Amino acid sequence: MIHSKLKSFPKGFLWGASTSAYQVEGAWDEDGKGPSVIDMGKYPEGTSDFKVASDHYHRYKEDIALFAEMGLKAYRFSIAWTRIYPKGTGEINEKGIAFYNDLINELLSHNIEPIVTMYHFDLPYALQEKGGWSNRDTIDAYENYAKTLFKYFGDRVKYWLTINEQNMMILYGAVLGTVDSKIENPQKELYQQNHHMLLAQAKAMKLCHEMCPNAKIGPAPNIISIYPASSKPEDVIAASNFSSIRNWLYLDAAVFGRYNSIAWSYLEEKGYTPVIQEGDMEILKSGKPDFIAFNYYSTSTVAEIKNDSSDKNSTGDQQIAIGEPGVYRGVSNPYLEKTQFGWEIDPIGFRSTLRELNERYNLPLLVTENGLGAYDKLEEGDEVNDDYRIDFLRKHIEQAKLAITDGVNLIGYCPWSAIDLVSTHQGISKRYGFIYVNRDEFDLKDLRRIKKKSFYWYKDVIESNGDKL
Ligand code: BG6
Repeated sequence: MIHSKLKSFPKGFLWGASTSAYQVEGAWDEDGKGPSVIDMGKYPEGTSDFKVASDHYHRYKEDIALFAEMGLKAYRFSIAWTRIYPKGTGEINEKGIAFYNDLINELLSHNIEPIVTMYHFDLPYALQEKGGWSNRDTIDAYENYAKTLFKYFGDRVKYWLTINEQNMMILYGAVLGTVDSKIENPQKELYQQNHHMLLAQAKAMKLCHEMCPNAKIGPAPNIISIYPASSKPEDVIAASNFSSIRNWLYLDAAVFGRYNSIAWSYLEEKGYTPVIQEGDMEILKSGKPDFIAFNYYSTSTVAEIKNDSSDKNSTGDQQIAIGEPGVYRGVSNPYLEKTQFGWEIDPIGFRSTLRELNERYNLPLLVTENGLGAYDKLEEGDEVNDDYRIDFLRKHIEQAKLAITDGVNLIGYCPWSAIDLVSTHQGISKRYGFIYVNRDEFDLKDLRRIKKKSFYWYKDVIESNGDKL
């Protein structure tokens, strides 16, 4: 639809930026922090570990001053569960509470709204050793952790995100380390873990409303429009299959407290249905989100199945549709350009995703990740001319504005990432930030902060409430 006049971004729009604890903080074993699955995980050869990351743990004041200079209205970060409970449960680590208290206070002193992810991939290793999300005790551990966060920080944090990209943890479990890929039926195990995470999330949402009546809470999956490769009806069914398995399974459970029927039929067909105990569905129904947060990088395009092993294309990753025999085949979209890392760039798909979410759930939407990973170059005179990032973000913000004009209730936009950090599986060289951190994969150099060209650009965007793009 062409609109003759575009609506403006609403007053109080949460112009922000995002990070996660293990990717930015460093100090992986300091001040009583326990190890997480990330700390104990393996890193692809040639990429950095997460031990120092961007050293934000020691430099958060300097970083927040830069965020304030950029004009951020909100900062989305995650709390490391293992700083609060080094073993996932048991005794509280007061130094962990103190760190996040200081961080939150520092943000508020700059009028930056904290948006807190409670769990971003970094499950405490002590829980993992007891079966991780396969063990129902982890649901109680998460609920107890949630209670602690609401108790200590609920007086100041108004926006909570339960679990980052639960759908990616299940669909790409081997990459994100929630299941041992060597076990006999990892997929079945993953969907059991998924069920437990859904219960944990529902309990946290309920608890948040009881303990912090002025706060809002929502899930934060990675949601994207799925395109059929053509108008061939078989392609359309394949797209619908993938969309239900990848997107709606997670959000239907979070919002309506039930399993999506197409996704459930997939679980039945594959023999992946989770064990559901008596009372579980009541728990699922008891938690209600106030908004939907979601991460968006790209769309996926899928085609009709051939129902043989060629349906599975092995080159995929979390943003590249892989395919599954008998369900859908991932294909590349000939209309889209790709990033240096092979992810398709699709700003219009962003508008389409916003519209789909709005139509299905009719809840406020908050974008918690969107951005471009690239090999940035530090040039002479401490300049980073990341025009490609500006171009990417500009086009996505333009589409967000169109979506708002379409009637979507978008309350905030937090691109990934506020500052350079270590990518989940591609090291520090895959940079996303508005602020450059001077280090390489293995040479930590001086870790100094350098404002990129996109920093100044985003500052103008925020100052003009999205008018000056
Ligand atoms: C999301 C995650 O999957 O995408 C982030 O929530 C991650 O943790 C981001 O860093 C970008 O992915 P990657 O693999 O390029 O770091």
